[in-house]
Amino acid sequence: MSLLRRRERPGMLPSSAAGSGDDPPAAVRHVLDIDDLSVAELVDVLNRAKAGHRMNALEDRGVALYFQKPSARTRHSTELAVVHLSGHPVAITDHEVGIDTRESAEDLARTLACYHAIIGARVFDHRILERMAAASPVPVVNLLSDRAHPLQALADLLTIRDEFGSFEGRTVAYVGDANNVASSLALGVGRTGMAFRIASPDGYGFDEDHLARLRTAGAEVQSFDDPREAVRGADAVYTDVWVSMGQEDEAAQRRQDFARFTVTPVLMDAAAPHAVFLHCLPARRGEEVAEEVIDGPRSRVWPQAANRFGAAKGLFWWLTGPAPGEAPRTR
Ligand code: CP
Ligand code: NVA
Repeated sequence: MSLLRRRERPGMLPSSAAGSGDDPPAAVRHVLDIDDLSVAELVDVLNRAKAGHRMNALEDRGVALYFQKPSARTRHSTELAVVHLSGHPVAITDHEVGIDTRESAEDLARTLACYHAIIGARVFDHRILERMAAASPVPVVNLLSDRAHPLQALADLLTIRDEFGSFEGRTVAYVGDANNVASSLALGVGRTGMAFRIASPDGYGFDEDHLARLRTAGAEVQSFDDPREAVRGADAVYTDVWVSMGQEDEAAQRRQDFARFTVTPVLMDAAAPHAVFLHCLPARRGEEVAEEVIDGPRSRVWPQAANRFGAAKGLFWWLTGPAPGEAPRTR
């Protein structure tokens, strides 16, 4: 992937870049997972996320936010982030556009790029994002797919850094399904130098190919069968739902298979005395996490949800400039 930063405004590209075929969008940066950012870029995005002031990075430009699945945090944090960057967010659902029924993913991306500086998309199938990115002359950002949730991982890293001051020497233990959230979290944790452990029921962990991909990307994962072993001495204990969006027909089987994997107060006691509890939300109290944990003093799920705003703002700002070294334009 090209590391070129574009000086021009992506939403104002000439029409040749918008799908006429004679100018491949080679310099465009898409963020479909955390490792689309180098480690230095990841840190840059995290630092930008903390800028409290309003900016004009997206002035007079739009950001398209396309959703095939429900969302509360992602939709609201991204919309507000665009407003904070002085842009205009336009959120649409698949009812309005009909990917691969009314028009192809490629044509939708080319169309949205005529008006918008960034396209964000939440999709069932990650390959839709790859197709959009391949055709789009403006950055495509993954707002969650079956494989990855990079904006969530950015917020998770912000929350860990807020809590401990740095990433150095920290261990994150994930208990539950090795899903989209777990995978992006593993990448973010590994690439910032922290240790990542996961405990999943048999058949729900990362497979060997996935572990190899994570390892290649800088995330060494330690896998466990027993949640107590995984969380022993950890600084943060993380979980997510047992039934992700799109897996509803597996719900009964999953609830049975994950029954030993609830994050309870007893499990939290096996972590470090200062350990915090994290969850991307939405949560199902009594399933993956006990009410006493998510609503208890060790829980950081609300600061974590709040960090979704900074994560989106930092990433959108980074994608649209000003380039590193230039002073941010504030208003
Ligand atoms: N964590 C998260 O992505 O929440 P939403 O599904 O509500 O956007
Ligand atoms: N793993 C969950 C995360 C929701 C934010 C899902 O994909 O539904």
